[in-house]
Amino acid sequence: MVQILAVSNRKGGSGKTASAVNIAANLAATGHRVLLIDLDTQGHCALGLGVATGRLSPSVHDLFSKGAPLRPALQATVWPGLWLLPANPLFAHGSGSQDALLLHRALQHEGLCDEFDIIVLDTPPSLDVLLLNALHAAQWVLVPFVPHFLAGEGVRQLARTLFRIASGGNHPGLRLLGLLPVMYDQRVGMHRRTLDEIGQQFGALRMLPAIRNDIRLAESFAAGKPLGIYAGQSRAAQDYRLAAESVLACWQAEQVASR
Ligand SMILES: Nc1ncnc2c1ncn2[C@@H]1O[C@H](COP(=O)(O)OP(=O)(O)OP(=O)(O)O)[C@@H](O)[C@H]1O
Ligand SMILES: [Mg+2]
Repeated sequence: MVQILAVSNRKGGSGKTASAVNIAANLAATGHRVLLIDLDTQGHCALGLGVATGRLSPSVHDLFSKGAPLRPALQATVWPGLWLLPANPLFAHGSGSQDALLLHRALQHEGLCDEFDIIVLDTPPSLDVLLLNALHAAQWVLVPFVPHFLAGEGVRQLARTLFRIASGGNHPGLRLLGLLPVMYDQRVGMHRRTLDEIGQQFGALRMLPAIRNDIRLAESFAAGKPLGIYAGQSRAAQDYRLAAESVLACWQAEQVASR
């Protein structure tokens, strides 16, 4: 069965896109067929994967603006096994359909849930219908966060949204896969303290191994390549490989438990 993972945090600049791109790439490297969907109209996933898009290129947002199918927007990426449904930077957040189940239905209806093993959703830093679509389409949520003093509030806000959706009867299967510290520097006391505090609140088991601060990450986006291609031996590349392994381990444990 397809695993659908939304990468989400309402706080801006918390490493959502970097994590969605690099975890999707590392999952594809393990032989899975992976689709990355960029719901954020900033459109940074296409940049990070060297996918050229134009003003009139089909995008995932055409589903929301005009009910268009997703398939014509599918694009291969520089990374084998990884496909992208790119964003439309001209789509105005808040416009178009307000149906929170649109993406869920389109993925099922168009057979994309059968064609891919894993679907990763990059989400915008806002609580709008695009984020709600991601959370209704996904079974799992991964929350990257920068461990500074406002991080706890961002994670708590998202946890409340997840709880509302999961307990609202619409989508009881939605679950928090884990929390992913990014831009982590263990020499910084606030980083260590924030990690402890969030770990205590949500459970240390939910904390994935941190992604260290690494300028190669920003450089790789500028170069239009996932880290594994741009700087495969860099700190963050190693950390994202471990993070993808943790995601797979969680799914494997889940399959064993449900047998
Ligand atoms: N581990 C890291 N080390 C250094 N810089 C990083 C790291 N992870 C992300 N960055 C940089 O931090 C910035 C924000 O990251 P990113 O775009 O992934 O966040 P985001 O949550 O997707 O932002 P937005 O809310 O705007 O969508 C980017 O410039 C990115 O290159
Ligand atoms: Mg982003």
